[in-house]
Amino acid sequence: METKILTASKQDIALAGKILREGGLVAFPTETVYGLGANALDENAVKSIYAAKGRPSDNPLIVHIAKKEDISPLVKEIPPKAEKLIDAFFPAPLTIILNKSELVNDTVSGGLKTVAFRMPKNEIARAVIEAAGVPIAAPSANTSGLPSPTKASHVISDMTGKIDAIIDGGDCEFGVESTVITLAGETPVILRPGAVTKEMLEEVIGKVELAGAVLSEMKEGEKAASPGMKYKHYSPKARIILVDGDKKSFEKFVNSKKDAFALCFEGDNISIPKVTFGREGDDLSQAKLLFDKLRELDELGAKKVYARVPDKNGVGMAVYNRLIRAAAFNVIDLNKPFTIGLTGQTGAGKGWVCESLIKRGFTVIDSDLVARNVVKKGSPVLNRLQRAFGEDVVKDGELNRPLLADRAFSEKEETEKLNAIMHPVIIEECIKQSEIPCVLDAPQLFEAKAEKYCYKIICVCANEEKRIQRIMRRDGISRERARVRINAQFDEKYYIDHSDYVIYNNGEDTDEQLNTILEEIL
Ligand code: TXA
Ligand code: MG
Repeated sequence: METKILTASKQDIALAGKILREGGLVAFPTETVYGLGANALDENAVKSIYAAKGRPSDNPLIVHIAKKEDISPLVKEIPPKAEKLIDAFFPAPLTIILNKSELVNDTVSGGLKTVAFRMPKNEIARAVIEAAGVPIAAPSANTSGLPSPTKASHVISDMTGKIDAIIDGGDCEFGVESTVITLAGETPVILRPGAVTKEMLEEVIGKVELAGAVLSEMKEGEKAASPGMKYKHYSPKARIILVDGDKKSFEKFVNSKKDAFALCFEGDNISIPKVTFGREGDDLSQAKLLFDKLRELDELGAKKVYARVPDKNGVGMAVYNRLIRAAAFNVIDLNKPFTIGLTGQTGAGKGWVCESLIKRGFTVIDSDLVARNVVKKGSPVLNRLQRAFGEDVVKDGELNRPLLADRAFSEKEETEKLNAIMHPVIIEECIKQSEIPCVLDAPQLFEAKAEKYCYKIICVCANEEKRIQRIMRRDGISRERARVRINAQFDEKYYIDHSDYVIYNNGEDTDEQLNTILEEIL
């Protein structure tokens, strides 16, 4: 099919109206995103929207109208709160859901008893609907699953050859889709946040709830208040990971990453390839750019993207809602970068649990390995060790480990000095390496005070005799020396008291214990 590119001229709008009236598909700009319109009363025309987008047929469409008078034929009744919202806001980036009338077919409503409608603020959009002379069903004009289009070029890239015409009306004002609120139930509920914020709605009709699925992932089997919530959304091909933290910690984290892009705010100091979406704290600028920048990341061939988390205030809630879906709810919280902190007494068989976690897809960060790497030649920490333990602990740039161990483990105070230097450096490096889901494997987790960086802590314990046998075998040392090592650590009670979960690794059912714990954590 040839796709005509139209302008917003009178002639072209009349032509768009004619195409729509006759059952064709036309994409047009709105103040939110571009819509893909069809005559809402023509079931076949509406079906072709689902086909062009590749959209699941149970995901209902919004019916767009040009005048407030066009609402009543679509609905059973207009309750007082709906009346108030319509009076206060329409035309606006606001969609209202009410019980539908017979006029609205099941293809538009996705089989639901309700209908979503909105009167766009954008004048080209209203002119097109007016010209068509019928209500216009219009989802966002993107291929299902991709970011919504905020520029004509996005629609051209997704829809050329699949629809009759595209009206190029420039960039969309807001850049995120309309706020969707249902008034079909007892309390008004926001199903999708947008430019008309919760606060703005509450000023007019009082208490409004935010549907749970706006901010968090739906559980398996949970029923969606809005079918659109259950589908993967807005996602570019790149894997997006949200990174929650302030500007400084975001920069530090991201700048240590290789083969990745940053999706950040203007003015962030980023040394890896980056794309910016607006200014920090400026929700409107972020909303306007987000979808365009997600598409740009694909054009740049980004495979993995670390994105800064926007504030959730005002329209920021809508930005956050779209971004967290684009990220499939993958968030690294820089205050708690490790999903699991894994620790345990020496000889308890922590290594075995690590291997099981790797097999289950976790990234495991080995703090012992990191500890060895941070004292490599040239590392700034070597100077600090020299100042604390003597010039000669470093020779020709290399750390003299036995000498350092001699001095640092001679007395408790010296050991504490060593830990005070090493632990923060090790933790910082581990945080840089964190991924999701991620395990920090740290025998000295508690000594290093790393609990606060872990979402949950698992400790591995085992019978003392088993542990002694394992240490003797593993390190080739005597029973007495094995016991000295055991006694140098916290006792079992300490580990258990400071952990969220305990695995008893005495040889049986360890795998089942781990499964049960992971089910709870994830
Ligand atoms: O800003 C917008 O609303 C844009 C422009 C083109 O107007 N349109 C748009 O449509 O975003 P769409 O189809 O991409 O998103 C409509 C959302 C979907 O999540 C859908 O599940 C939900 O609204 N929805 C539609 N009718 C519904 C209903 N009766 N009950 C619950 N949710 C409904
Ligand atoms: Mg959409």
